[in-house]
Amino acid sequence: MTTKIIMDTDPGIDDAAALTMAINDPSIDLKLVTAVAGNVTVDKTTANALKIIHFFGKDIPVAAGAEQPLIKPFEDAARIHGESGMPGYDFGNDYGQPIKTTAVEALHDAIMAEDEVTLVPTGSYTNIALLFSEYPEVKSHIKRIVAMGGSMSGGNMTSVAEFNVFTDPDAARIMYNSGIPIVMVGLDVTLKALLTKDTIEKLGQMNKTGEMLHALITHYNDGTDEGRPMHDVNTIFYLLHPEAFTTKKMWVDVQTEGPTIGATVGDVRAAYHDGKTNAEVCLDIDADYFNKWFLDEVSKMN
Ligand code: BDR
Ligand code: CA
Repeated sequence: MTTKIIMDTDPGIDDAAALTMAINDPSIDLKLVTAVAGNVTVDKTTANALKIIHFFGKDIPVAAGAEQPLIKPFEDAARIHGESGMPGYDFGNDYGQPIKTTAVEALHDAIMAEDEVTLVPTGSYTNIALLFSEYPEVKSHIKRIVAMGGSMSGGNMTSVAEFNVFTDPDAARIMYNSGIPIVMVGLDVTLKALLTKDTIEKLGQMNKTGEMLHALITHYNDGTDEGRPMHDVNTIFYLLHPEAFTTKKMWVDVQTEGPTIGATVGDVRAAYHDGKTNAEVCLDIDADYFNKWFLDEVSKMN
């Protein structure tokens, strides 16, 4: 059985790797890709999503989304992902165009066409928040949201905030209060499952896909030469191999102002929400399994 998913993304090097896995794994049916401003501006994230899809010769629609967060001023992460968002590999100029509909309209149409679909956001959640505000009827068609973002153990933007949530905390709060079950794939696991130096070297000698990923990853300014976090890829790994994760259900609140802006706070003592939970939070991961799976997946590609 295949899992129908929609990815909302901001490629971004680790987003590109997550798209690579989702496009190619036979048990995932990627229906639509929507782009959001995040790692770089939305014109670039849209073009980058198209480049990856074109690289694999697939015909998956891409829609351009929000140019900026709901309230907070936009700040990119080009210092991590380069000015283009996907440096180091020449994808050429012939990679097609986004569809004419906006991300919110495309998300609405694609979700309503399915009985059940899984949303996989790997950028800030601006498009998702706009979708839920404009078309709340989509919620009953979404089985769950498997989202990269957040942290229970310290941030990568501030001492408490992770980039995707920090970029648009107001959108994150809307998503976490949507009533849809959320799997939070945050820094608690993505910083443990580093792609090792050995894995990265092997990728470069594997095949055309491995060469492409190797080129991008060696231009990626996150982690160190000993290991690089492939944050967004962990969402796809979770969908395919949840047994590799240790999770805990809890209520997650999002801070939207002050020095803790962008923090995800887990109500681990069930002090504020009458024992109700809105998220299953990934707390631990089998990092060796992640590296092995990553190489196995790419070895099956061209
Ligand atoms: C997240 O921030 C972005 O830079 C990455 O693509 C990932 O989605 C990690 O904090
Ligand atoms: Ca991302």
